[in-house]
Amino acid sequence: MTGVGIDGIEIHTGKLRLDLAETFAPAKGDDPEKYTKGLGLYASSFPDTYEDIVTMGANAAHRLMERKGLTPEDIGRIDVATESAFDHSKPVSTYIAGCLEQVFDGDFHHANKGERKFACVAGTQSIDDAYNWIKAGRNRGRAALVIATDTALYARGDAGEATQGAGAVAMLIDEDPNLVELSTEQGYGSADETDFLKPNQQFPSVDGKRSVQVYLARMREALVDYQSIGGDVHPDRFRLGPFHTPFPGMVRKAAVLAYRHITRDTEIEAELADEIGRQPRHAEFDDDDAFLEAVQEYTDALTETSRYQSWYARTIDPTLSLSRRVGNWYTGSVHVARVSGLKALAEEGEDAVGKRLLVGSYGSGAQAEIHAETIQPEWRSEIDALNIDDHLASRYELSFSEYEDVHDSHNYDEETSIEEFTPPESEFAFDGWGRMGERKYRYVE
Ligand code: CAA
Repeated sequence: MTGVGIDGIEIHTGKLRLDLAETFAPAKGDDPEKYTKGLGLYASSFPDTYEDIVTMGANAAHRLMERKGLTPEDIGRIDVATESAFDHSKPVSTYIAGCLEQVFDGDFHHANKGERKFACVAGTQSIDDAYNWIKAGRNRGRAALVIATDTALYARGDAGEATQGAGAVAMLIDEDPNLVELSTEQGYGSADETDFLKPNQQFPSVDGKRSVQVYLARMREALVDYQSIGGDVHPDRFRLGPFHTPFPGMVRKAAVLAYRHITRDTEIEAELADEIGRQPRHAEFDDDDAFLEAVQEYTDALTETSRYQSWYARTIDPTLSLSRRVGNWYTGSVHVARVSGLKALAEEGEDAVGKRLLVGSYGSGAQAEIHAETIQPEWRSEIDALNIDDHLASRYELSFSEYEDVHDSHNYDEETSIEEFTPPESEFAFDGWGRMGERKYRYVE
């Protein structure tokens, strides 16, 4: 069998934009640089009143299928990854299939549908499920549609309010993929953690500071696990490192720890030794505190080296450009990071065929997963087909009071009757409630 991976991808952003430095920070009495420099975020995407996880996911999938010339019969599996589901039983994939059946001839009656939940790592897990299904030979020549869709809203006043976002990523998983082939090797870091959860509630309970530490710990564990099964992590082996990006500042923290880890016992560590010494080894210290202090000092010095900074500028920074403009999309976030990085390579005209990505996914609760991807010969046409820049540029700019209204309109506990900010056009829109409490949708020409 040929390789299996991502054949095509589409991104759909929520149609509203909140500027964090110009609009959010002043209303909160914060220094704008807390957002732009500290968190690394400039704006968040929000859903208009008629948008939700179904419309955004269906719009992304519609464009993907249309662009690839697919019909429902070509799809054997639809999995939706989300942390924003509104139904404990009926999966979001059934709603999305229903939407797509409004615009395509044929139906998805013989496609296996489901919904994956493990916080933000569920999008990557859905790709895994599709990969395994294809590798097992159960796909009958058909591809899988994986849709990561979220309205990542926090309660008003929560520290996480700064990192909100809304959007969907649709990916076609297939044999002989056009975009990237997935590695068989995977590393996991997984533990029962209480850092971010939604126990039967719409907005998350978050221990923000702790969630940052849990992200770093699980990501490290996954990297070690990946290495243990032969995953080569030398920095020269990877052109890009797309990580789950709740906000770019989180990836900045993770990147230096990852670089320290992947350069240990390499010629890079030896070459840097003249400037900042060798990495501290636990065995050389009598007590843990002294060791940890030495590690912190080394890490701080590492971030100041030009070697690290040029690796970061080349490998990590390109993966953050979309995230800076849209905020956190939970399950879609690492997939947005992959696209950001590939877009940057395309814009630079780089011949990237055969180059590799080290992809770090993460979900609170908590689990990290590391795998590698190899860029495929047709990658450029897939990336050139994206219209995300136009879509981002056409977002409606919210004032702070409009943002408050939008937040209320998506809050299940608020009764609101605000008008839409943008007219729906050539897209799926929420169309009210059915007799059993189901949500209804229609395609607006
Ligand atoms: N100029 C420059 N930088 C500034 C600044 C200024 N004027 N003011 C503050 N900063 C910096 C701070 O130093 C800090 O950076 P460091 O952490 O590097 O020191 C950064 O800006 C943020 O400032 P605070 O820590 O004071 O911000 P906060 O307390 O309001 O909240 C947060 C930060 C805890 C991450 C919060 O946004 C949050 O709870 N977010 C949601 C949880 C989250 O995203 N966790 C990430 C890991 S979990 C995960 O990844 C899953 C997921 O998707 C949710």
